[in-house]
Amino acid sequence: MLDTAAIEVENVSITFDGVRALDRCTLRVEKGESLGIIGPNGSGKTTLLNVINGYYRPEDGRVMIFGRRIDGLPPHRISRMGVGRVFQVTNVFKNMTVLENIMAQGVWMKERKNLRSRALEIMDLVGLPRNLKDELAGNVSGGQQKLVDIARALLPQPEILMLDEPVAGIHPIIKEKIIEVVDRLRRDGKTLMVVSHDIPSILRMVDRLAFMNAGSILMVGDPDEVRRSSKVVEAYLGV
Ligand SMILES: Nc1ncnc2c1ncn2[C@@H]1O[C@H](COP(=O)(O)OP(=O)(O)O)[C@@H](O)[C@H]1O
Ligand SMILES: [Mg+2]
Repeated sequence: MLDTAAIEVENVSITFDGVRALDRCTLRVEKGESLGIIGPNGSGKTTLLNVINGYYRPEDGRVMIFGRRIDGLPPHRISRMGVGRVFQVTNVFKNMTVLENIMAQGVWMKERKNLRSRALEIMDLVGLPRNLKDELAGNVSGGQQKLVDIARALLPQPEILMLDEPVAGIHPIIKEKIIEVVDRLRRDGKTLMVVSHDIPSILRMVDRLAFMNAGSILMVGDPDEVRRSSKVVEAYLGV
């Protein structure tokens, strides 16, 4: 028997105001694999992540997490099944401290023992210096806020983590940190989905690369092959 995949998206479609954001989109992510997704603006990458974590309900098709059908379930239920998400736009609580931001994620968790010490360990894991713990999150740099977002997503110890453009617009030093954190999660066997326009960065974070265009996955495979393929080059250059 084939091992169950971490994520299976089968023929999923969704339309907004007549625009088919996902058009019979099909994708399989194996357990412990890190999959990158590239594709032009508006090709449906963020929508795909939103369907997987329950923000959007597909009109058609199905979504499975570890073999269990989840389309139609609310986001908090999907989150409890071990799916974490880091959004493109940082969404820290600016008037709470860095540590409080991370601990606040605990409200979604069943097991809340040692929340503070776990939050501190996660700060170490993502490379947030502990002396920032009492700093208001609104006062740390944009890149550090992104690290706070990643730390929050990691607090419930998700098996699957989806990151949407994690290095876009981030200062090079923090960008390097983020790439290292994601790469470490990959080596620790987490299942990852990473959406990014930054090809050199994404190549350091993923095992396979998928190319998305007009709401469907056109190609999945070895990262170098995918990015060099004529389909991908044409879609980006519009030739
Ligand atoms: N909530 C929404 N309401 C209306 N249109 C949306 C919504 N979400 C996505 N779309 C549309 O779906 C298409 C795909 O968007 P998106 O998934 O954000 O693309 P990408 O992340 O690849 O840039 C775009 O045409 C976008 O305008
Ligand atoms: Mg997007």
